[in-house]
Amino acid sequence: MADTVLETVDLQMAFGGLKIFERLNFSLRRGERHAVIGPNGAGKSTFVNLVTGVLKPVAGRLMLDGRDITAATPQERVRAGLLRTFQINTLFPGLNPLESMVVALCQRDAVARPSLQATARHTGQIDEGRQLLERFGLLDVALTPTRMLPYGKQRILEVALAFAMRPRVLLLDEPAAGLSTAQGVALFDQLRELAAETTVLFIEHDMNLVFKYADRVSVFAGGQMISQGTPDEVRADPVVTKAYLGN
Ligand SMILES: Nc1ncnc2c1ncn2[C@@H]1O[C@H](COP(=O)(O)OP(=O)(O)OP(=O)(O)O)[C@@H](O)[C@H]1O
Ligand SMILES: [Mg+2]
Repeated sequence: MADTVLETVDLQMAFGGLKIFERLNFSLRRGERHAVIGPNGAGKSTFVNLVTGVLKPVAGRLMLDGRDITAATPQERVRAGLLRTFQINTLFPGLNPLESMVVALCQRDAVARPSLQATARHTGQIDEGRQLLERFGLLDVALTPTRMLPYGKQRILEVALAFAMRPRVLLLDEPAAGLSTAQGVALFDQLRELAAETTVLFIEHDMNLVFKYADRVSVFAGGQMISQGTPDEVRADPVVTKAYLGN
C-alpha cells in the first residue's frame, strides 16, 4: 500500500523460551506520528530493535516501502532511511552544535571529507544547520561545545541531527526522558511541525505527550500488541484500560 511506509508481517521473536510478538502485524502510515506505549517489559524496545535490525526475528517479515528488509543489516537500514536518534555518546562532544550540524548535513549531501577549516565550501550546509538549530531552539548554544551543554539540550540536539538527515522513518526511544516539561512540549511541537516531511515512531511514557501529539497509538503489553488506533480509540478500548491505563 502506497501510504504504508513500514510494515511487519507475522513477525515473531523469542528470547529462549520467552515468546514475544506471536505474529505481529504492525503498520506505520507515511507522515504520521505514531506512539508505542505499554508497561515495563511490554516489548517496546524489542520492537524497535527488530525494526533497526539489532535483533533478528525468528519468523515473519519486515517491509520498508514495500521492500523486504528482514535480512538487511542495521547499516543497510540506515542507508534505506530508517534512523534512530543519535545517542549522546555518538555526538561529537568537542564540536559545537553548528559544527555537528554541518558534519551531519555534509554526510547527508555526500560531500566528500567535509573540512571544518574550509567552511566557505559548505555555506549551504551552514545556513541549513543554523535554520535547523533555530527551529529546535538551539541557536543560542550553536557555538557552545556540545559537552558543555545541559543534558536536555544534548537530547534535543540528537533529534535535530537525526532530522537533518531527512530520514524516511525516524525512531525515537523516549525522546522527552530527562527533559523539563517545557522542553518536552517544545520538542514535540517541533516534531509536529516537521512530521509532514518525516514519519515518526516514538516510544513514550508520558501520556500527556502521547495523547497530545500522536496521530495513532499502538499499545503493547506482555509481548503482544493489544490495541492500535487513534488516541481516542485507544483510550476507549476496554482491553487497554484493563491492561494498562486503567486503575
Ligand atoms: N536480550 C534479552 N534476553 C532475554 N530476554 C529479553 C531480552 N530483551 C528483552 N527481554 C525480555 O523481553 C520482554 C520485553 O522486553 P522489552 O525490553 O522489549 O520491554 P519494554 O517494553 O521496552 O520495557 P521498558 O518499558 O521497561 O523499557 C521482557 O520480558 C524482557 O525481560
Ligand atoms: Mg524499553
